[in-house]
Amino acid sequence: MKFFIDTANLAEIKEANDLGILDGVTTNPSLMAKEKIVGYDAIRQHYIDICNLVEGDVSAEVISTDLKGMIREGEELAELHPNIVVKIPMIKDGIKALNHFSTKGIRTNCTLLFSPGQGLLAAKAGATYVSPFLGRLDDISSDGLQLIADLRLIYDNYGFETQILAASIRHPMHIVECAKIGADVATCPLQPILSLLNHPLTDSGLAKFLADHKKGNA
Ligand code: G3P
Repeated sequence: MKFFIDTANLAEIKEANDLGILDGVTTNPSLMAKEKIVGYDAIRQHYIDICNLVEGDVSAEVISTDLKGMIREGEELAELHPNIVVKIPMIKDGIKALNHFSTKGIRTNCTLLFSPGQGLLAAKAGATYVSPFLGRLDDISSDGLQLIADLRLIYDNYGFETQILAASIRHPMHIVECAKIGADVATCPLQPILSLLNHPLTDSGLAKFLADHKKGNA
């Protein structure tokens, strides 16, 4: 399973990248605004900065919601760097835009996906990735992980090459469960990735090894 980091914060991207386990980055307009990256030029420069930090796919989201606008914006974003993946919302014109980019060889990430039916449409339209938001489904007492499992089953049934990019991940067990189901990618903030490191038996075991070594070598 590939690990992407879901942030526009360069320091966090660098910290995850320094671990040597990072395969890419996802952003969205909310994450860009959180880092106070505003305006056409600043936003585009930030995508280039991220691409220069990480070797791997970097999702850059369009703001337009009409086909013409999504195509114009997506083509501009794809021009910025070979690793840019154009993020397209799961709406009617978005499906048409996915088809367009697929025929042009521009890679896409279909975002705001909340149902297996949406996933089926996005795959038919040739999306490179789909982003099911599992945490937001959990937030409304639905089952986010079941959506990941349903997409896995559907894509395997028909050999769709669209990759399942599990998004809106809130905690380390979301990552582990996604790996068990067979999601192709998990994108998450830095903290859940770092939390995978932790186990109290690792800490107490290491403390004892070091104490015994010290005693033996006193
Ligand atoms: O990649 C999608 C993700 O950013 C959404 O996460 O935590 O805002 O639901 P969240």
